[in-house]
Amino acid sequence: MKFALRADLLDFTHAPAWGSTATDGLRFRPDHWLLVDGGRIVGAQPGHQPPGTDWQLHDHRGRLLLPGFIDTHVHCPQLDVIASYGTGLLDWLNTYTFPAELRYASADVAHEGAARFLDALLAHGTTTAVVFPTVHKVSAEALFEAAAARGMAIVTGKVLMDRHAPPGLLDDVTGAQADCEDLIQRHHGRGRNRYAVTVRFAATSSREQLAMAGALCRRHAGPDGVYMQTHVAENTDEVRWIGQLFPEARSYLDVYHAHGLLHERAVLAHGIWLDAADRALLRDTGAQIAHSPSSNLFLGSGLFDWQAAIDTPHRVSLASDVGGGTSLSLLRTMAEAYKVQALRGARLSAWTALHSATLGAAESLGLAHEIGHLGTGAVADLVLWDWACGPVAVQRDAIARGAVPGAAAQDLHARVFAWMTLADERNRVATWVAGRLHSG
Ligand code: GUN
Ligand code: ZN
Repeated sequence: MKFALRADLLDFTHAPAWGSTATDGLRFRPDHWLLVDGGRIVGAQPGHQPPGTDWQLHDHRGRLLLPGFIDTHVHCPQLDVIASYGTGLLDWLNTYTFPAELRYASADVAHEGAARFLDALLAHGTTTAVVFPTVHKVSAEALFEAAAARGMAIVTGKVLMDRHAPPGLLDDVTGAQADCEDLIQRHHGRGRNRYAVTVRFAATSSREQLAMAGALCRRHAGPDGVYMQTHVAENTDEVRWIGQLFPEARSYLDVYHAHGLLHERAVLAHGIWLDAADRALLRDTGAQIAHSPSSNLFLGSGLFDWQAAIDTPHRVSLASDVGGGTSLSLLRTMAEAYKVQALRGARLSAWTALHSATLGAAESLGLAHEIGHLGTGAVADLVLWDWACGPVAVQRDAIARGAVPGAAAQDLHARVFAWMTLADERNRVATWVAGRLHSG
């Protein structure tokens, strides 16, 4: 089915310079038609040149069209514990998170939870995510099935954890390996599903399990190989505990390196308490940090040093980390990321923020041939947004556009930055996945 969407098209062709509000790397095409055929983007042309009568036209001029956001770290079962009061990471896991995850042993809970979670992602403008389910095989299975039913590209895998958690959340090395191999064989590379070897964090896996996870990564390596996801250096108590559990390791990150878990397809959440040698290791292995500012603020974990990541350089993408994070909205997450950098005395441009949740994430995941931009050939994972929602944002947008008498028009960055800071899921008008309109 051929259709064309008229809107202001915003995406990136390469990474914008850190700290710059200049438009290098940005591709902004105000009032253009985006042409979609067979679920893929096939071109774009100016608003005054509509395509022929064989195209179904959707005229949304005055709205904003972006590639769907990519959330590189989020927990499906933790929607049930979002906004839980009063704890830092380790207490929060024991008090709220582990009890919630225990429920996912039930196939019914897992399937209902996966459907609710993916529909919520789409309603927040996120079309691809790297997702933690639970230790239960059925919870990964449910996510793969629910994503396939929606046509979404998803990266997930059964969580590995064989110690330091309630018995109902523990697996063992042999059984976990068999489950992973079976899930990889049946789901990895099937449609848009991709498998991630999922180590919760070093504290909940024995050395034997970490070695098994590393062997899985080696056995299924390559450009279409499996991913690896975990947490690293989020909280100072956690870092201290890892030091006690692995006294032989140079650092927390080094535990993963020693077990063969750092590679181009590795996604590590947080990375707040790293040193220069850790960052160099991220650079040399190609592993990425999924920066999760809303979670880092909510759990009081710390302020991520994005400038150091740029200086190294190593890869950074953006993540909600719900339920440590307090919103699935990557726009709200960007606003939080700006504030975290402001507290560090740095400034996060709207361009770097938006790039890190679109093309930047797609490139870090090796998926830029498919997602993260509005170029010809990409899969049509699209989100249409209102520039402003509510009287405060409407006035702020009018000021930026120069539509208020006496107020000089501001540059494009100022307008997009105000949108990024004020907008959330209420600004979302519609989401398409592989060219199919999502009904939620
Ligand atoms: N570290 C280990 N597990 C988790 C989790 O579920 N959330 C966060 N934020 N950190 C973790
Ligand atoms: Zn997490």
